[in-house]
Amino acid sequence: DVQQTFYDAVGGAETFHKLTARFYEEVAKDEVVRPLYPEEDLGPAERRMRMFLEQYWGGPHTYSDERGHPRLRMRHNPFVIGPIERDAWLRCMHVAIASIDEKTLDAAHRQQLIDYMEMAAASMVNSAI
Ligand code: HEM
Repeated sequence: DVQQTFYDAVGGAETFHKLTARFYEEVAKDEVVRPLYPEEDLGPAERRMRMFLEQYWGGPHTYSDERGHPRLRMRHNPFVIGPIERDAWLRCMHVAIASIDEKTLDAAHRQQLIDYMEMAAASMVNSAI
């Protein structure tokens, strides 16, 4: 019996598509996070985030095929990310996670996703204020 990935367990591509689409819908309205994005079109950023998360959770490796090693902390260096930006980013992510129904994302997988996002967001902080 093969081990099922987190990616497959939570509904694969469709779920990651929903999650990132809802996340960027929230980012677009957020007056703290939105101004950090250099591009007017959030579509390409949404796609990079989706590819990254799919790869991280055991799905296709398209992110690294296109972008190489993630080096996320380095890629976030151009943006000032303090506690306020971290919390605003996390708020958007919590809304996105909450938008996935319990049948698709059960309590245990949901908690795993939340824990990861909180850890990852904390690790991206590069400014004390
Ligand atoms: C890129 C903001 C945390 C994953 C970006 C970009 C911004 C940004 C402005 C550039 C947009 C673009 O790709 O064109 C933030 C802020 C965060 C945060 C304010 C607050 C904590 C995170 C976390 C993750 C993440 C926790 C992963 C779990 C990514 C990815 C990219 C990206 C994958 C694209 C990297 C690439 O160029 O390949 N982020 N981010 N970010 N972010 Fe974040």
